[in-house]
Amino acid sequence: MKIFFLDQSGKPGGAELCLIDIAKPYRSSSKVGLFADGTFRILLEQNDIPVEVLTTSAIQVRKESGLLQGLGSLGQLIPLIVKVTKTAFHYDLIYANTQKALVVGAIASFFSGRPLVYHLHDILSPEHFSSTNRRIAVISANRFASLVIANSQASKLAFIEAGGRAEITEVVYNGFDVKNHQTSELDIQGLRQGLKLEDKFIVGHFSRLAPWKGQHILIEALTKCPKNVEVILVGDALFGEEDYVESLHKQVVELGLEDRVKFLGFRSDIPRLMSACDLVAHTSTAAEPFGRVIVEAMLCGTPVVATASGGAMELVEAGVNGFLVTPGKVEELAIVINTCLKEPENIANLANNAQISASQRFDVTAINQQISLYINEKVLKSHPPTS
Ligand code: UDP
Ligand code: GLC
Repeated sequence: MKIFFLDQSGKPGGAELCLIDIAKPYRSSSKVGLFADGTFRILLEQNDIPVEVLTTSAIQVRKESGLLQGLGSLGQLIPLIVKVTKTAFHYDLIYANTQKALVVGAIASFFSGRPLVYHLHDILSPEHFSSTNRRIAVISANRFASLVIANSQASKLAFIEAGGRAEITEVVYNGFDVKNHQTSELDIQGLRQGLKLEDKFIVGHFSRLAPWKGQHILIEALTKCPKNVEVILVGDALFGEEDYVESLHKQVVELGLEDRVKFLGFRSDIPRLMSACDLVAHTSTAAEPFGRVIVEAMLCGTPVVATASGGAMELVEAGVNGFLVTPGKVEELAIVINTCLKEPENIANLANNAQISASQRFDVTAINQQISLYINEKVLKSHPPTS
């Protein structure tokens, strides 16, 4: 099957990393079209997935944009829509992986007659998106998509609450290559030594630096933990959150934590780093649509604490395969860190349970089969491939 995947981002956020795994099985006959150039393009090329950057001018619509800004961007969108439509004629199906890709893909689907699949990686709630943005996404999906793949029950529910059609929506979790999450003890020791953290209790945070990802909560919680607890923050500002990055550095200095917090920037060796941590903390203050980092920590066998909201609650069962804390509650997070510090054997058991169950639930081959099944059932039966 020939699939024309569309994604607005040139940067590798979670939705983009997920797309790499979805596009891989189709790479001999499919293509990914991007609305911006960047390291995501390079990652696709490294995975032998054909990719084309479809435009070089940035689309000015943001999550909080209103109708006027949306209309103002039409001038930029028209040449892109024309290009996507022309390309779509050579494919059996358009697969939109982000919201701007949905809008462009919906119009291209209409003109090319090719069916549209929308992979919904977001929670379409007022907490995350303006009402204009939510309306445009829901109208485009309802009117043009044959299938909406939601990355969690939480994302599906928010879509339906925003007016999305339940009958076209299916939940498929992100898939992961389990064997990529195994790291040798020697490698872990070397990494801890390299970071000068051999004798420390390392709490790792793996996420782009953005206010709603809540790195500031973890930094504050560290003030309530003994001195041998240290934090590594892995990730960078991907979508213009430079002010937040500056505020995090300031917070660290103000709290006198310069020796206990390391900013490692964006890294490509996440499984190794996670395996070297004693605990992975997910601290999103708004509902997380899915939360790849939570599953990745589980697959690495590292205990994980996550905030109890959105998709994270479908991944973590408190006390069974991880810990849950209330979003934004510094005290609760500090209690979990201190408990983990005091009870290494209990948390090792918990992490072991998590590793076993996550390997079964999120295996990439099984997840890709689910996607292929839904495409066959919900899309291709009514739109058989032309080639
Ligand atoms: N990630 C990465 N390098 C970093 C920080 C994060 O490759 O320095 C990856 C991380 O392993 C995960 C993804 O970025 O796969 C983030 O996805 P998640 O679903 O947790 O959050 P998102 O950023 O998509 O909201
Ligand atoms: C989005 C969401 C994140 C999810 C990822 C993959 O980036 O913010 O929660 O894990 O997509 O579906």
